[in-house]
Order: sequence, then C-alpha cells, then structure tokens
Amino acid sequence: MTILKTQHLLVPLLILLTSATFPSYIKASTNTKGVYQPCSDTKVQISDEFTFGIAFSSRDSFLFNQSHQLSPCDRRLSLSSLNSQLAVFRPKLDEISLLTINTSSFFPDSYGGYMVAFAGRKYAARSIPAFVANSTYTVTSFTLVLEFKKGRLQNLFWKRDGCASCAGNSNFVCLNKQDCAIKTSDCKNRGGSVDCSLGIQLAFSGTDKHLAVLNSWYEVENLRQYSLYHLYSNLRDSLTSQYNNFF
Ligand SMILES: *[C@@H]1O[C@H](CO)[C@@H](O)[C@H](O)[C@H]1NC(C)=O
Ligand SMILES: *[C@@H]1O[C@H](CO)[C@@H](O)[C@H](O)[C@H]1NC(C)=O
Ligand SMILES: *[C@@H]1O[C@H](CO)[C@@H](O)[C@H](O)[C@H]1NC(C)=O
Repeated sequence: MTILKTQHLLVPLLILLTSATFPSYIKASTNTKGVYQPCSDTKVQISDEFTFGIAFSSRDSFLFNQSHQLSPCDRRLSLSSLNSQLAVFRPKLDEISLLTINTSSFFPDSYGGYMVAFAGRKYAARSIPAFVANSTYTVTSFTLVLEFKKGRLQNLFWKRDGCASCAGNSNFVCLNKQDCAIKTSDCKNRGGSVDCSLGIQLAFSGTDKHLAVLNSWYEVENLRQYSLYHLYSNLRDSLTSQYNNFF
C-alpha cells in the first residue's frame, strides 16, 4: 500500500484537519508523538485529537474471502500488497472539519475507485465502501459521520442527501439516487477544467469518554452539508469558487 499525501488546509473558526504521510501501513508512525496511527485503539474526550484513515482500493479488496468486509487494519485483507492508497487524518473530536484530498496527481479511479474510512484494531470500526470514481463518473463531496460511544469509535457512516445538493444542475449526474457525480472527463488533468479534489465533511455523534454528548453532526445537519463549503475561506480559490459556479 502506498501512502497518499493529503492536502493540508487551515481553516479559521472551523478546524481543518492535518494531513500526514504514513511511512508504513502497520508499523508505528515516525510522527514525534506516534499519533498518526489509525490502527490503534483509543478512548477520547471532546477536543482530543483522533486519528483515522481512509483507504482507497477496489470494492472487492475490502472483502475477506469475497464475502466479509473487514477493517483495512485487519492483516487478512493484505491491502498493502494490493493497489491501494491510504490517507490519514487527525481531526479534533466534535469539531466540524472539511478534509480535502487533492486529486491533481491522485486519480481515485486508478486505485479501484472506492474508499473505506476506518480506525482501531481490537475495537475496529469501518465504514462501508463508498464509490468515489471510475473512468466515467467522479463523486467529489462526501459527509462522514463518526459515531462514538463513551469515547470509543463505534461506527463510521457516509451520510447522503439523495442528490438534493445537485438537483436540477446539469453539471451533475445523480448516481444510485444518492451521490452527485461529475463526469470524470470534466476533471482537470482528465480532459476537463473542474478541480475534482475530494471534499469530505466530517461530523461527530454519540458520547465521549466522560459521556459528554457530541453535537457537531447536528450542526452539520442544520447547516445543510453543502453550504459548509462557503465557510472554508482557504478553499475560496479552488473548491469553493467552483462550487459557487456550480450551485
Ligand atoms: C470462504 O468461502 C467459502 C465459500 O463461501 C467457504 O467454503 C470457505 O470455508 C471460506 N474460507 C474461509 C477461510 O473462511
Ligand atoms: C490541488 O493541487 C493543485 C496543484 O498543486 C492546485 O493547483 C489546486 O488548487 C489544488 N486543489 C485544491 C482543492 O487544493
Ligand atoms: C461507473 O460507475 C457508474 C455508477 O456506479 C456505472 O453506472 C458505470 O457503468 C461505471 N462505468 C464504468 C466504465 O465502470
């Protein structure tokens, strides 16, 4: 498994995620605090930083014996020997963050086109595989909810809006009644002019280790997920302006 360098964006007010290069998929990180390790088990409280990973690969490569979906941390998947990429993020618990993965040199469709968000080993949690891209379509906007129980990650799920955000917009195609997709041929470096970098809106739900309730998911829901792009001023010249043109 090779390591994907993710785009680092700092955002005023809303804290954006850092990005990390991750030297070895399973080994401890070289990061000074050894914190960029998505395959370790932690219990967190509000404002703690928390590490999770997003693995890109084919849908089948997340399945063991063609049937059971395992966490990418599970060595039985041997993702490291497959055509996969890993992005590691370290958001703060209960702070709304927008993660971006710059696709100017990383084409998700070259790595199987699906992604799984995950963390933990003994207490492994993973999302279902989400379609990102193939040679025809690319989905660029996602909302990921991380659900905690007493400070331990239980579940990660992709929240969809049934294409409400792109309804009636001819630049988008609604895939499977859930994802707004752009034609891959409209993407930069693929023949088109759109920056198809991935934007992943992050939100938290559940409780931290002191049983304090995590609220950021409710805030995202109330703000409507796509309007949040306008809050990330650092993205103004890239993703935001393009979304302004689109919506
Ligand atoms: C894999 O699946 C096949 C058929 O479903 C089953 O017979 C076999 O025992 C499974 N192997 C493992 C290692 O689980
Ligand atoms: C991605 O990287 C390219 C080249 O460095 C840059 O021009 C573009 O603005 C970046 N896109 C985002 C969304 O940061
Ligand atoms: C790409 O994905 C879409 C949606 O899942 C599907 O309809 C289409 O056939 C796929 N195209 C290719 C070339 O695999």
